[in-house]
Amino acid sequence: MKEKLIKLKEEIVSKMSEIKDLGGLRDLEERYFSRKGELNEIFKGIKDLSDDLKKDFGQFANVVKQDLSSSLSDIRSRIEKGSSSANFVDPTLPAKKIAKGSIHPVTQVKQEIEDLFYSMGFMVLDGPELESDYYNFTALNFAPHHPAREMQDTFFVDIKNDEGQADLVMRTHTSPVQIRAMKKYGAPLKAIMPGRCYRNEATDARHEHTFYQLEGLMIGEDISFAHLKGVLEMVGKKLYGPNTKLRMRPKYYPFVEPGSNGEYTCFLCQGKGCRVCKYTGWLEILGCGMVHPDVLRSGGIDPEKYSGFAFGFGLDRLVMLKYNIDDTRLFNSGDLRFLKQF
Ligand code: PHE
Repeated sequence: MKEKLIKLKEEIVSKMSEIKDLGGLRDLEERYFSRKGELNEIFKGIKDLSDDLKKDFGQFANVVKQDLSSSLSDIRSRIEKGSSSANFVDPTLPAKKIAKGSIHPVTQVKQEIEDLFYSMGFMVLDGPELESDYYNFTALNFAPHHPAREMQDTFFVDIKNDEGQADLVMRTHTSPVQIRAMKKYGAPLKAIMPGRCYRNEATDARHEHTFYQLEGLMIGEDISFAHLKGVLEMVGKKLYGPNTKLRMRPKYYPFVEPGSNGEYTCFLCQGKGCRVCKYTGWLEILGCGMVHPDVLRSGGIDPEKYSGFAFGFGLDRLVMLKYNIDDTRLFNSGDLRFLKQF
């Protein structure tokens, strides 16, 4: 009888290793553990044994039954947790590789420019993205109803200030940080201010409602246009190579006087003319100029004593040109196939 039980136990153990789901478990319980099951048949036979054997075998049979039922409940909880013997964890297998992200291309170029300016003694500053109309426009010499405000399609935010004016906007450029920096640090001052900006654009391959700029500001005694040109030439060489040239042509911005745009020789054709530069040989990347005396005054700085220059790079545009990216919307798409290329 003992041998019969041992054989039956081995049979049950081997069937247990094949169980994959609760159905399989139920079948096995039915076949071996139910009242009419094969294990019970053996238990029924115990009463016919002699007293000695009854005690000896009875104990043995009970231990076997307990072992088997505890294995059954292990199997049940493993299945309920979603793992069966079929996908049990083998800790000796090599580990799965952890998927690493990558630094966004705009962040990479931003850091490259930050390093350059940091090495020239510039601070790197931050400002709020939800900005007051005053800092975004008025303090920068945009008169309240002046058409220059319409150069920048603005998201107005429907929150009123203490005087009942709807005074907040999503900043349309990083220039408001110029005023904040002047108020906080006074003159002399050297700072760059990278950050996210917003415009109410109909988006396409070249326009996005959310984009990055990098503002620069230098104020001191006797700061001239020559300093501005020297700094911008250096940035161009750093970004696009030592043969890069700078071209500046007059352009109106209310917060600078004189104002200018800034173009670099096309990095792709070296100025010969190609598809990227639309056959002009130049790439327009920035706006700049000498800080307007009224703007210095808004920042609490005396324009009789100090002068300064400011510039603003379109950071996304700079990155697009550097890597030959043809759609600005890719930057905010969160598409890993795009982001992993950098
Ligand atoms: N803020 C301007 C823009 O967004 C760029 C600029 C910055 C121009 C600083 C001149 C000086 O278009």
